[in-house]
Amino acid sequence: MSTFAITNPILSGFSSSEIENVPIDTADKIELSEEEDKRTFHNTDAAYVLPNDNTEHQRLELQHKLLWQLMDNKVFHSPLHKDTMRKILDIGCGTGAVTHEMASTFPDAQVFGVDLSPVPHVRQKLPNISYLLALKDVDLYCGVHIASLFAEAGLTDIRVTRYLVPYSRWEGLTREEKEMADYLETVVRDIIPIAIRKAGENAGPEYGREVDEAVTDARKYLEAYDGGRDFLWLYVVCGRKPE
Ligand SMILES: C[S@@+](CC[C@H](N)C(=O)[O-])C[C@H]1O[C@@H](n2cnc3c(N)ncnc32)[C@H](O)[C@@H]1O
Repeated sequence: MSTFAITNPILSGFSSSEIENVPIDTADKIELSEEEDKRTFHNTDAAYVLPNDNTEHQRLELQHKLLWQLMDNKVFHSPLHKDTMRKILDIGCGTGAVTHEMASTFPDAQVFGVDLSPVPHVRQKLPNISYLLALKDVDLYCGVHIASLFAEAGLTDIRVTRYLVPYSRWEGLTREEKEMADYLETVVRDIIPIAIRKAGENAGPEYGREVDEAVTDARKYLEAYDGGRDFLWLYVVCGRKPE
């Protein structure tokens, strides 16, 4: 997972239409067969397999708070100036938590939040925010590549900050890292079977049996899993357009 700020984005390439915030319960619904997995998903061809419902929105809000703590109570890592910020693009804006913070910090900038489903009404939509529906390719390992993509695109003054995101508690972690570990331990157990089932559904009905087996295997594995000392890196990459 990565967060990054892009100034002066070129938005004309988006095959998207501007949308207003809509109540959560009007989102498109795809019902899954298993009682426990009756969740709703983005109604797109995107490779992204996590849900888009109220439960997911609550998860994203909690995750945002924990990430914010993990990054020393700051979201912006670039030296951004109020007077020069004109356009801001938040790709994969989820519930709009970061979009909102950008829009309130930079009231003179136009802020565009892009996601697969409409952004829910969890907070006031500031007048300088536009939410867009868009489908772009997803690269789950993009964090590792962003710095070189920035360099290829001609950005300069590229800076990378990495934060440790642990899957379980171990000695020596900070309070913020431990809180994130507690959250992830629960989330991973809940969400992996849901994501496997959704990915299987996307692959086609002929994979039904394999999907059931994969879900059963994953549940067994996760029940026995003690987290070890596994972790992922959260990448924050900043770059500057040449003058
Ligand atoms: C982990 S959430 C991050 C939410 C938000 N940025 C935050 O900090 O709370 C990832 C978001 O990316 C969106 N997403 C995934 N694939 C996408 C794609 N191809 N195009 C646009 N948004 C996408 C998901 O719908 C989800 O809301």
